[in-house]
Order: sequence, then C-alpha cells, then structure tokens
Amino acid sequence: MCGIVGYVGLQSALGILMEGLRRLEYRGYDSAGIAWLDNGEIHVLRAAGKLHNLQAQLPATHSHVGIGHTRWATHGKPEERNAHPHVDNQRRVAVVQNGIIENYRALRDELTAQGCVFTSDTDTEVIPHLVSLYLQQGHPFLEAMRLAVSRLEGAFAIAAIAADAPDEIVLARQQAPLVVGLGQGEFFCASDTAALISHTQAFLALENGELARLTPLGVELYTFAGQRVQRYPQRLTWSPLAVEKGGFKHYMLKEIHEQPAVLRQGLESHLIEGQIALGPVQELYAQVEHIHIVACGTSWHAGLVGKYLLEQIAQIPTHVYYASEFRYAPPPYLPRTLTIGVTQSGETADTLAALSLVASRTLTGTPWLLGITNRPDSTLGRLVPYLIDTRAGIEIGVAATKTFTAQVVAFYLLALDMAHQRGMIDQEKLELYLANLQKIPNHLEWILETQTPAIEQLAHQFQDVHHVIYLGRGINFPIALEGALKLKEISYIHAEGYPAGEMKHGPIALLDKNVPVVAIAMPGTVYEKTISNVQEARAREAQIIGVGTAANLEIPDLFQVNLTVPEVPELLSPFVTVLPLQLLAYYIAAQRGLDVDQPRNLAKSVTVE
Ligand code: G6P
Repeated sequence: MCGIVGYVGLQSALGILMEGLRRLEYRGYDSAGIAWLDNGEIHVLRAAGKLHNLQAQLPATHSHVGIGHTRWATHGKPEERNAHPHVDNQRRVAVVQNGIIENYRALRDELTAQGCVFTSDTDTEVIPHLVSLYLQQGHPFLEAMRLAVSRLEGAFAIAAIAADAPDEIVLARQQAPLVVGLGQGEFFCASDTAALISHTQAFLALENGELARLTPLGVELYTFAGQRVQRYPQRLTWSPLAVEKGGFKHYMLKEIHEQPAVLRQGLESHLIEGQIALGPVQELYAQVEHIHIVACGTSWHAGLVGKYLLEQIAQIPTHVYYASEFRYAPPPYLPRTLTIGVTQSGETADTLAALSLVASRTLTGTPWLLGITNRPDSTLGRLVPYLIDTRAGIEIGVAATKTFTAQVVAFYLLALDMAHQRGMIDQEKLELYLANLQKIPNHLEWILETQTPAIEQLAHQFQDVHHVIYLGRGINFPIALEGALKLKEISYIHAEGYPAGEMKHGPIALLDKNVPVVAIAMPGTVYEKTISNVQEARAREAQIIGVGTAANLEIPDLFQVNLTVPEVPELLSPFVTVLPLQLLAYYIAAQRGLDVDQPRNLAKSVTVE
C-alpha cells in the first residue's frame, strides 16, 4: 500500500527521501512524489508510474526537510495530479497520507464553500486545506495539525510540512502504520522500518491517536487531545542486509532460497533443550476449548494448514476465517476461544480490525489473542498480548514465500505443544515429530539443488497457458490453494486450487488438453484417493504435473511430469510440496519477463480495508 517517508536534519533530504521510497517500493505503488522546504517555500515533485520517473526530474538542492510518498490508488486514478504530496492553495502546507479519509466528501464540500480549490480526486487533499485554514487562524503548525486530524474520520497515517515551520515535520497516526527513526541531530519517519534501516536501528512507533513533532532537536509525542506522551524507542535486531537482493535476480527467488535457513532459525529459537518454548501463550493451553484463526491471502492458507494440525494432532476444534469477512460477520461469542491472527506484514487492516473486535468482546482479563508474524515490531506486535515471532525476518517480494513456511512451522510447534501438554501425545511421539521436523530444512535444500532445472524447464511449457487447476487433498489442499495463488499473483495466469475429491463437482468441466492440472499426490491417508481423482482429470486429456515422491513416476501414463520431492511423514508434507510450486510460479513469471517482486495491482502491506 502507500508508503510514507520523511526527513529532518543536517543532511540533504532529497537523496534520503528517494532511497526511503525505493525501500518502500516492495509495498506496491503506482505513483510517487516528494515535497521539501527551501528558503521558506514548499516545492513539490510528483510523477505517475515507477520511481525512476520521479528520479529523472530531481533537482540539485540541499533542503534539510522533506516528505515523500509512494501511492497505491484508492480515490482517483494513478495520475500525477492525484499523486502525493498534496498542497493547499497558498502552497504553505504539503501533506502525504496513507489510508482513507472516510468523511472527505463532506469536508471537501465545506472547504470548497470556504473558497478552497481542489486539484485532485483524492481524499487526502482535504488535509492540507484544513491545516492551512487553521494556520491562517493563527495556530502554530502542530496545533493546526491537531485540529485538522480531529476533523478526520477513517484510518490514516499523515506526514506534513509547512512553509512557516521550516525545521519541522508533523505526523499523525490513526489505524495505519507510522514509525519515527531516531538519528543524531536528524530524525526520520516512515510507514515501514525497512525504509530507514540503513540510517538507524532505533525506532519509535506511533500509536493510534498520536501526533509527533520532529525537529533536528528531537521528537515530541502528543495525543490527539494534546497531551504530551513519553515513550522509549525500540531497537530493531535485523540487519540492513535483509533488504538487499544478495546476488539473486529477484527478492522472491532469494526468499524462496532462504527457506531452509528460516526454518532452522525458527526451530532453534523455539526449541530450548528439546522442549517447545512459545512463551506466555503456554499458560492458556489447559483452558482453550476452541480456536479461531483470522488472516488474509497466503497467511490464510497457513491458517488452513494450522487448522489441520490443531484438529488432527491437538484435537481442538478450529475455524479459519478471512479477516475481512470476520470483522463484519463475527461468529457468536464462544467462551474459552483462542483467536490467532496470522500476518506477515503485521499491518493488514482487516486482520488487525478482526483482532480488535475480539479484544472488545473480552469482558475481563487479558484477551486471548495470539499473533503469528515475522514482524514483532509491527502494529500486530503491539496489539496482541501473546505473540510467536516466526523469525523469518522482513520479506520484500510481494508474493509471500518464506513467511508462509515460517508461519506453518509456528503452527506445527503450537499444535505439538498443545497436544503434548494436554496429554494427546506422549513425550516419545513428540520427540519423533520434532526429529522429523528438524530434517525438513535438509529436504528443502535437496529440492532446491536437484529439482530447480526441471522446474525451470517445465516453466517454458507454460508460455501459452491461460488456466491451471491445482489439486490437493487433506493437509495438501491448502497447498493447492497456495500454489494457485502464487501463480495468479505473479504470472497473471488464471489458476484455481481445489480439493481433489471436489473437482468432479464443477471444475472438471473446465478440463481439456489446454488446461494443465498440478496434482499434489504425497504418500499418506489420501494418496490412493488423490490418484483416482487425478485419473479422472487425465481421462479428460488434461496434462498432469505431479508433485510427490518418485513413486508417482511408477504409475503408468498418469503424470507427464513429476516435481519430485523427498518422502516425509504426511503431516510434514506441506513444506516439501509448497516449495516446487513457489519455484514453478517464479520461473513462469520470470520467463514471461514480468515484474516478479512487484506484481501489478498488488501490495505487500494492505493497510486499507
Ligand atoms: C497481500 C500480499 C499477500 C499477503 C496478504 C496478507 O495481499 O500481497 O502476499 O498474503 O496481503 O498479508 P499479511 O501481512 O496479512 O500476511
């Protein structure tokens, strides 16, 4: 979604703003702009499309204060006039905003009646006009911003500069992420720490309903009611190298290859002397009777794998909800329910809203909310009382890969730990599960080393394909969904994931020789059934691509190609089946010459509804 960056200090602001915007590119955007102060005047530069369009017009100037923005269009087309920053008619205030101002129409009418002339279709433009009016009434910049934000409804993060306050940036946050980066004699702001990590590792996250005033002398925090707030900054532990490509052509390929290390890291940090250590959430185990999982996109698929494990290993009834559905149609209140929010960004508006709704229904004590994320520094990290940090670190490629497998590891550990502590599995069985889990990173390395050439080769055959069906059953049904989503997201080929047994109730009508079927067929309880379902597809002349062990190749005339993976216990198979599907989607998109890391219309961090 939109990205915000700001700088005030002794260095030249423009280079820092541009670098910050580049770091935010991964979040998805369609236009960009910056505003800076020079000799008491506001200057604005904006361009539709990629950042190089903006870079090409950049003047040589040594301003020390500025704000920048990458926009993902909500109100108004991705054209230059709708790009941020937006200014008032006197050009005394410039504003960038991330979010949606829900009452902007009423404000626009009111401001137009007072003589303001609007030049864009955006909701954001009401803000500089409002701030400007309050400045004209004689209020100082911070107070003018405070009065302006108190008129706004919706979710927003705002950064603003004013010609009359030449050393200041004022920020405001309401349900959209915004952090302040602390340097020496210089301060930064951004919607994501990734934008600033090469400058500072000390951050202060704004809370909802807070304003901040940044000057070269320091940071002041206030509530929307005007009360001063004191808070210590946090230190980020991940290294600036995490936001580099490290020799890979795309971030997505790098992140796919990072999965063995991410899994090792996740297991190491949550296994202490052979015991699963997931922190304070363990105190709830004995009391939990139901589990609800809320998530979006790929994290929702991780939730489906989680449900399978929590029900089949720990025997706890579990429901998985799309967060966007849950928030407006929550299930009736069920006591003793643990609600788990899964999110790689930690900022998905729908997931945060669903969790907040659950918190608001908790009458006494700490809400039973558990977050599973790789971003403990995010809004989710501050919202939930219980958290599992998957240790996957930041992910830049829009299509989630390593964060998915790390979320799935978290669910394994949670399900095993709950099962063990509730007496569903004994110590011996637990140790066996853990020993097998610890072998997974080696299996993933084997797939990466031995199967990549065959997958690259197969990807060539997808040049003229328009539809693909992915089939899986049991614990691999969510992997069929995930494989299809990966393909859709980055290659723009239509793909459907389906439970293999359900195919004959509809999707089979789509099959012919032009519609390949990717069939996940791993040894286990549903292997024979899956093979029968695949036979049905083969009988319609579909080309069948298997994902399974070498045994698949021994079935006469069924699989034209098999993406071979090592044999692992059925419950662990999602790790080895998802990897070839990530690679397949990657190579198909890369061979089509598409923008793999920033696919069209998508955003890494979806901070609006
Ligand atoms: C966006 C991303 C997806 C991601 C989804 C949920 O749509 O493009 O890759 O799965 O958001 O994100 P979350 O941060 O909640 O896991």
